[in-house]
Amino acid sequence: MMVIPGPASQELGRKIAEHLEKKVVPIDFKRFPDGESRIRFTENIEGEDVVIVQTNSPPQNEHLIQLFIIADSAKDLKAKSITAVVPYFAYARQDKRFRPMEAFSIKTIVTLLETCGVSRIITVNSHNPKVLKTFKIAIDDLSAISLLAQHLKTQGFNGVFSLSLGKKAVDMAKQANDVLGGGYGCISTQRDQVSGEVTIEKKTLPVKNRDAVVFDDIISSGATMVKAVRWVRKQGARKIYVACVHPLLIGDAKNRILEGGADGIFGTDTIPSPFSIVTVAPLIARALA
Ligand code: R5P
Repeated sequence: MMVIPGPASQELGRKIAEHLEKKVVPIDFKRFPDGESRIRFTENIEGEDVVIVQTNSPPQNEHLIQLFIIADSAKDLKAKSITAVVPYFAYARQDKRFRPMEAFSIKTIVTLLETCGVSRIITVNSHNPKVLKTFKIAIDDLSAISLLAQHLKTQGFNGVFSLSLGKKAVDMAKQANDVLGGGYGCISTQRDQVSGEVTIEKKTLPVKNRDAVVFDDIISSGATMVKAVRWVRKQGARKIYVACVHPLLIGDAKNRILEGGADGIFGTDTIPSPFSIVTVAPLIARALA
């Protein structure tokens, strides 16, 4: 097996290879002044099981195109198998046609990866694991919630209440509670398909005079998390921490969350950010092994 860290996942790719004790094949990469990418393998990959690690952090579209080019070239150069490790899978939230005649974007992305010769995709806390199971290609959706919770535990967060956002995401809170104890729950969230306005369920939570951690798969604009943190604060929680797998934190999301009442933000390195303190490398390495 050869691990090929793509331009978007240089550090994480190397960490995964270290965990696996496998060889890293660096990519000779150039970004032209107009933004186009050129890639070249630095070793012969013919007959090899190739693992490409390329997250879809912003700029997502550029990182996706690079992934397509790397995979398709590996196919041309006769790699034996091609696995794409995409720790953050862009477009996973467009998991159906929400409105008539709208694109089903994640299907398009998966189809393109298959066309480029990818036979297996590994991702982490994708927005809708169920929809990934409907595609022909093998897709492993791993969960980094226990890793995040274990980190929080080492920081003294034992016995806190674990809350996850989104009715379907109650599993996240359950997984966190298995590590942290202290009980768990979820509140559902909704986004208006036209205006983008987020509303959250105003549900009573057992957090009065207690510390709580609010878990979510993604923090993008921060709109959902700010509302959740404010609600937990209103319920009388003491300290409130925010934990997410993919800390996109676009624009001033970080400040809005902290100003909204959060005492700290924790994330993983599926997306490089100042909050990416938990590495998903061992999780991905285990799946590859
Ligand atoms: C929604 O279903 C997701 O789990 C996240 O809550 C959402 O994508 C976060 O987006 P934003 O930070 O823009 O509110």
